[in-house]
Amino acid sequence: MALTIGIGMELTASERSYMNSEDVAVFYPSGYEAARHEPSPIFMNELKSVGDVPAEWNLRPEFSTSDGKSVARIPVGKGVDFYGNGEVSGPLRRNGREVRFWNTDAPKYEADEGRRLYQSHPWVMGIRQDGTAFGVIADNTWKSSVSLDEDIVFESEGPAFRVIVIEKESPAEVLRALADLTGHIEMPPLWALGYQQCRWSYFPDTRVKEIADSLRINRIPSDVIWMDIDYMDNFKIFTFDKEKFPDPIGLNDYLHDRNFKAVYMIDPGIKVEEGYRVDDQGPAADYWVKDASGKPYVGEVWPGPCHFPDFTRPEVREWWGTLYKDYMATGIDGVWNDMNEPAIFNVETSTMPEDNRHLGGDGLAPGPHLRYHNVYGYNMVKASRDGILAANPDKRPFVLTRSNFLGGHRYAATWTGDNASDPALMKMSIPMTINLGLSGQPFNGPDIGGFFDDCTPELLAQWTSMGVYFPFVRNHSAAGTRSQEPWAFGPETLESCRTAINRRYRLLPYIYTLFREAYEDGMPVMRPLFFADVKDPSLRSEQEAFLLGGDLMVVPRWSETTARPSGEWNKIVLEDTPDDGFQANLYQRPGSIIPVAELSQNTTEYNTDRLTLLVNLDPEGKAARRIYEDAGDGFEFRDGEYADYTVTASTEGNEVTVKLSQTEGNLKKGPKSLRVGFVTPTGIKYTPWTKGDTVVFKKM
Ligand code: GLC
Repeated sequence: MALTIGIGMELTASERSYMNSEDVAVFYPSGYEAARHEPSPIFMNELKSVGDVPAEWNLRPEFSTSDGKSVARIPVGKGVDFYGNGEVSGPLRRNGREVRFWNTDAPKYEADEGRRLYQSHPWVMGIRQDGTAFGVIADNTWKSSVSLDEDIVFESEGPAFRVIVIEKESPAEVLRALADLTGHIEMPPLWALGYQQCRWSYFPDTRVKEIADSLRINRIPSDVIWMDIDYMDNFKIFTFDKEKFPDPIGLNDYLHDRNFKAVYMIDPGIKVEEGYRVDDQGPAADYWVKDASGKPYVGEVWPGPCHFPDFTRPEVREWWGTLYKDYMATGIDGVWNDMNEPAIFNVETSTMPEDNRHLGGDGLAPGPHLRYHNVYGYNMVKASRDGILAANPDKRPFVLTRSNFLGGHRYAATWTGDNASDPALMKMSIPMTINLGLSGQPFNGPDIGGFFDDCTPELLAQWTSMGVYFPFVRNHSAAGTRSQEPWAFGPETLESCRTAINRRYRLLPYIYTLFREAYEDGMPVMRPLFFADVKDPSLRSEQEAFLLGGDLMVVPRWSETTARPSGEWNKIVLEDTPDDGFQANLYQRPGSIIPVAELSQNTTEYNTDRLTLLVNLDPEGKAARRIYEDAGDGFEFRDGEYADYTVTASTEGNEVTVKLSQTEGNLKKGPKSLRVGFVTPTGIKYTPWTKGDTVVFKKM
C-alpha cells in the first residue's frame, strides 16, 4: 500500500519482512532490487527468514522516496540515546547529529563540518531509559546519510534499501547480535597490542635503526616501527627506494633482532609508468577502475597520475593478494593501507567521479562509483588480508586501514585518520574510539600526540598517559612537524610517556583477554562509562572517563567531569614512583580481579610467569575474572593450544582466598608465581609471592 504525502514523496510500509533470528528483523521496501545491493558486504551470510515478524514488534521502518532519494525512517519514540554510527567526530551521544556516508580524506575532521570521515558505518544503536537497546542497519553502500533527531532517518542517492533491526535487553546484547550478523574480529597478533612508533616518515633506513635504538636505550617498551611512504621508490607501491632503503631484508632483520616488528605502508594508487612492474600488469588483465567512457581512470596521488585497482572484482583482489608474496618475504610483519577512500589530489571532491565504473563479479553486479565508493577501502583490505595470509600462512595478518565500511573489522584494524596536535582533538579521540567500538570495530585508536601541527611536551604527556588504554596505541606525526617521539621533549616528558607505556605492558594479560572477548562475541575493548550501569542516566553522556574492558575505569588527568558509576571503584596505582601529574587515574570495579604482569620491554619478552592479581572485593567479599593466554601469534589456539583461567576470590570472616585454575585449553603455560594486590580505598596491599595457585591472606 502506498500513500502519497507530498509532491514527489511516497510513503510505503515495508513490503516484505521476516525474522532473521530471534530479535533480528529484516524489512524490505517496495521495489527492492537485490542485484543493486547484494551480496551485502556487511553480513557474514546472506540474510534468511526464520519466520514472520511478530505483530507486537516495535520498530518498523517506513520507506519512501523524496526528491529522487530513497528514504527509510525508523520512528523510535521518545527518550532514546543514540550511539555508534561508526567513525564520527563530535560527541559520544549522537542525538541531533547527521552523518554523511561518503568516505572522505578529512584532515582534522573538517570536511563537511565534520559530517564526513574516512569510513562509513550505516549503523545506529539506540538505548532507552530503562536500559533496553536496539540497533539499526541500513544495508546500503550507496552515497547516503543518516540523521538522528527524534527518529532515525537514512537517505540514499541509490535505490531503495532494506533495513535490519535488532532488539535486545541491553547494549552489550545488541553488540553481540551485531557481531553474529557481521562477523568477529580475528585474534590480532599480541605484538599489535604493544606500543608503536610512527612518523611520516622515518628515512633513510639508518634513521629507522636510530629510532629503534632510541626506544630501547630510553627503555620505552615498544613493539613496532612504521614505514610511511618515503621507503618507496618514487611512491611506487611494492618497491623500495634504492638509496634510502637499499637493503629491506637487512633492515627488517635489524629490527627483529631487537624484538621489533616492521609495518610498511601500501596505498591503492599505482603510478602510471611504463616499465613499472605493478602498473604493467594492469592493462592486459584489465584490472583498473574505469571512467564513464570505459577507459582506465587516472587520478593523482603521491606518485602523480595513478591507476586504481577495481577491488570489486574477485580476480583483481586475487592478483592484489599475490603482490604481497615477495614483499612480505623481505621480513615485513604488517601492512598499513592508507588513502583508500580512495583519496585523489587536485579535484574538488577529493575522490573519483561518481560515474566511474566498477565491474564486480562473483554475483556482484557492475555498478558506478556511487555504489562502490564506500567499500573501496573495505574491498582493498579484504584483498590485502587474504594476500598476507597466503604469504605467511602461519602468522596472524595485521592490516591497518584508514578507510572501511561496516563489517570491515573482519579484515583490518583502523586508526582515526589525520587529527592534529590539539587538546580538543585529543579529547575527541575518546568518543571516536568508543563509537567505533559500538559499531563493531573494537580495534582502533588515534594518532597519539596528534598528526598535523607541532605537539607540545604537555600534550604528548597527556595524550600518551591516556592513549595507552586505547585498543590501538601508536604515536604518529606529519612531515614538517616537530619530532614527536617520547624523548623529543626532554627528560620529564620522556618519563611520563615511559610510566604510561609501562602500565600498558603490565596490563597486557588483561588487555589480551579483552581482545579474546572481542574475537568471541564482539564486545568492545574500550567502552563508554554507561556500560558500568546502563540504567544510570547520569553516565549516558560521559565521554572523558571511559572503561577499558568491564573492570577498569580510566579518568584522564585533565578530565573535569564527575559522572561515575556507583559502588566502590577503588583507585589503583601501578608504580611507586612519584606522581607526575599526567598519568590517568585508574579505578577498579568492585567484584573484579585485574591480572598484572611484570614489566617487559616488548611482547617477545612479555610473559605471565609472575602474575599479580589485583583484587577489589564486592560487598559480599567476592571477585572473579577470566584470563586468556595463547602463543600470541599463529593459529594453534584454534586447535586447543590456549589456556583459559578462572580466578576467584572469596571471603570467610577476615580471610580471603584467591584461587587460579585452568578451566580450558591444552596450553600449559600458567603463572609460576602469584601474589595478590588487595585493593582498598587507601591503596593496594601486596601479599608475598607464592608458587602455588592459591593465595590466602587476612583483610587487615
Ligand atoms: C595520509 C595518512 C597519514 C600518512 C600520510 C603520508 O595523510 O593519513 O597517516 O602519514 O598520508 O603517507
